[in-house]
Amino acid sequence: MNKPFVIAIDGPAASGKGSLAKRLAAHLEFDFLDTGALYRRAALNIIENGMDIADNSAIINQTERFIPKLHEKYDDSALRNDKVGNLASIIAQIPEIRALLFNFQQEFAKKSNKGAVLDGRDIGTIICPDADLKLFITASTEKRAQRRHKELLLRGLHVKYEAVLAEMQERDERDNVRLKDHLAPNIKNHVIDTSDMSPDEVFQTALDFYTSQSR
Ligand code: CDP
Repeated sequence: MNKPFVIAIDGPAASGKGSLAKRLAAHLEFDFLDTGALYRRAALNIIENGMDIADNSAIINQTERFIPKLHEKYDDSALRNDKVGNLASIIAQIPEIRALLFNFQQEFAKKSNKGAVLDGRDIGTIICPDADLKLFITASTEKRAQRRHKELLLRGLHVKYEAVLAEMQERDERDNVRLKDHLAPNIKNHVIDTSDMSPDEVFQTALDFYTSQSR
């Protein structure tokens, strides 16, 4: 059996990595995993169980019980709000939580038939260090805040741009350690700065990298 072709896509919040990953996977007929959704689902589970977020060991135990449920279907729209996103980035700092989510992600990549696209923060470094193609998608903080703001308004959530920007900066600060690791000089990433690019241009650039890598 041929080894699946694995594409690792990392980058900060609202950089466009999620929509690129989804589109690439659909185009190439690869499986797709939004790893941020795993952290968000674990966070939502903690909220729904009314847990004290300062109690790390209770959070770890609860998440351990939640792991088998990762295989179940879920409602994505319940995950797409700042409360869940913020708690996801808080629990993502706990090494035990990352370790609990590790197997599911790695198995997903290994088990795919033709290929897999995974997007997150540590895919090219920790989850799939041997990925066949590694993309790092980024954009300025302001551009990313503008995109997230638009996305929230479209979903009928009326929040101020300034609040979205502040939240983005706060989350960047928490996520930065992992992203810095990702940019370690020994890792060959293709960096795409999407600040002034349309989604089609980003897609085409990524597809060109794929074509040159898969030859
Ligand atoms: O789309 P956005 O980047 O805002 O969020 P996400 O990708 O759904 O991820 C939510 C949070 O989970 C991020 O802020 C990260 O702190 C965390 N995360 C992570 O630590 N590692 C991953 N592979 C994916 C997400």
